[in-house]
Amino acid sequence: MGEMSWPSESELNFIKTKVAEMSGRDVREVRVVLSPYRICPLGAHIDHQGGTVSALTINKGILLGFVPSNDSQVVIQSGQFRGEVRFCVDETQLPKNAIKWNNPAQSNGSGSVEECSWGNYARGALYALQKGGNHIKWGIAGLICGAEGLDSSGLSSSAAVGVAYLLAFESSNNLTVDPEENIEYDRLIENEYLGLKNGILDQSAILLSSYGCLTCMNCKTKEHKLVRAPDMNSRCNIRMNKKFKILLAFSGLKQALTTNPGYNRRVAECQEAARILLQASGNEGLDPLLSNVESEVYEEHKCKLDPILAKRAEHYFSENKRVLNGLDSWASGNLEEFGKLISASGLSSIENYECGSEPLIQLYEILVKAPGVYGARFSGAGFRGCCIAFVDANRALDAASFVKKEYTMLQPKLASQTNEGNVVLICDAGDCARVI
Ligand code: GLA
Repeated sequence: MGEMSWPSESELNFIKTKVAEMSGRDVREVRVVLSPYRICPLGAHIDHQGGTVSALTINKGILLGFVPSNDSQVVIQSGQFRGEVRFCVDETQLPKNAIKWNNPAQSNGSGSVEECSWGNYARGALYALQKGGNHIKWGIAGLICGAEGLDSSGLSSSAAVGVAYLLAFESSNNLTVDPEENIEYDRLIENEYLGLKNGILDQSAILLSSYGCLTCMNCKTKEHKLVRAPDMNSRCNIRMNKKFKILLAFSGLKQALTTNPGYNRRVAECQEAARILLQASGNEGLDPLLSNVESEVYEEHKCKLDPILAKRAEHYFSENKRVLNGLDSWASGNLEEFGKLISASGLSSIENYECGSEPLIQLYEILVKAPGVYGARFSGAGFRGCCIAFVDANRALDAASFVKKEYTMLQPKLASQTNEGNVVLICDAGDCARVI
């Protein structure tokens, strides 16, 4: 299990055959980008403030089958959405951040509604590459497919899609781009092209992760490392990865991050807290980011924050500590301790960051008492989507049926809206994004 279990041969054959059919090219010419989804066990909602985060990928994600075009044309179809995206790589792409996100029909004067919303990531990738000074001459003909039922789940499918397009354009244009540059390009897609004020957690996880390791990223300095658990066997820590499984527990709530003002509002609250703390300590010249506030300064001046800002700041400072402690627990293979920190992080998201919603909080509460679960928390932005849990591999099935039963009792309607009623999916850790 693990690294080699995704994608399956049949998934790869399906996508290659489809791309060969749509482009009229030989199936052997088709390249495939694997762009995995990510989870963030510790370090939620602190990336946009320059905090230190931990992440790993799972063995599910986005597949983008493509062939380089013989000209500048981009033609993309989707396994999930109707319509076809068409544009030329020599068109200059302009940011979309003036769009009213909850009305995709306004996002583009032409094409279907579906085309408008999902095509933006391909255009955003071109925007980022153009902004980075790259000469993109060749387009792509491709088919993009997400894992069934996992979009809008808080597993960062949007960053996985953005990264997939970046890698496909780079491959078609023979560009060698290192992961750090692609992290920045994906930031341009999300922050500038789409107008979401998020941090670099998602794409860092997708681009840097390695099977068996916990990826650690300091979002202020951009320094990163892979933390290996004990008993390493060359590149892969087989033993550690066999000890746990990752549970994805779906709430059935689906709403795109960009339609929810909660995310950007929380970012603004953190910045306001940082501004007040920096001012109180005579550091008003620094950027209003909580990572620019020393923890001693926070302790001394936190009484100056109003109750809401105080909670946001408390989340930031306590979460940073949990990440550092969590890296030690991971490095020593202590899943019990690692799990306790994850659940404490989940509680801080509920009480201090206040980003949950009733169904997600219920799921969290069910997960932390499920058999064999080391720890659980919301995934991603945490307003919708899923919760993640680390669970003893031998008890994963028991935990999954417990969660399904309990959640269905509390939220029958939402539970029935999950992918074919599959409230829980059991996954393994994954690897980084790549082209095969
Ligand atoms: C979303 C954002 C990330 C990060 C997480 C919360 O996934 O895209 O930048 O803030 O939420 O940790």
